Amino acid sequence: MAKNPPIEGCVRYATTTRMEIDPFAEMKAPRMPEITYVLPDNSEKTIDIPIGQTVMDGSVRNNLPGIVAECGGGCSCATCHVHVDRTDAQLFDEPSEEELDLIEFLDGSCERSRLSCQLVVREGCDGVRIVVPDTNS
Ligand code: FES
Repeated sequence: MAKNPPIEGCVRYATTTRMEIDPFAEMKAPRMPEITYVLPDNSEKTIDIPIGQTVMDGSVRNNLPGIVAECGGGCSCATCHVHVDRTDAQLFDEPSEEELDLIEFLDGSCERSRLSCQLVVREGCDGVRIVVPDTNS
C-alpha cells in the first residue's frame, strides 16, 4: 500500500522538483583572459579579467599601482594611460578621436599609448602585456 494514497477528488502535485545542474558548466564556461601588467617598479602581475571588462577595471579591482582612473572610465582624465605593443593593440578596438585627443597631450605618450579604460577585454586577449608608465599620478 502506498504511503500517501491519493484522496479521491483531489489532484496530486509532485512534491519534489528536479534540479537541472550541469556538472560540466565550469569546464564549458569561457576561460578568463590573463592580462599581465608591467607595473611602474618593473614588477609584473598577471590577472584574470572577465571578458567585457576593461584593462583599467582589472587594475583597479585588484588594487594595482599606476592606473589611477580618476574619471572612473569616462575617457576624460587620462590617468589610466598605458603602453600596449603593436601586436597586442590589434586585439582591442581602434582608439576614438576623444581618446587620441587626450593621449596627444600626455607626458610620456608614444605610438603605443592607450587609455586602459578604453581597452575592453575580449576572448583573444589572453597573454596581452600592458605596460603601466609611472606618469599617471
Ligand atoms: S579612467 Fe579616465 S580616461 Fe580612462
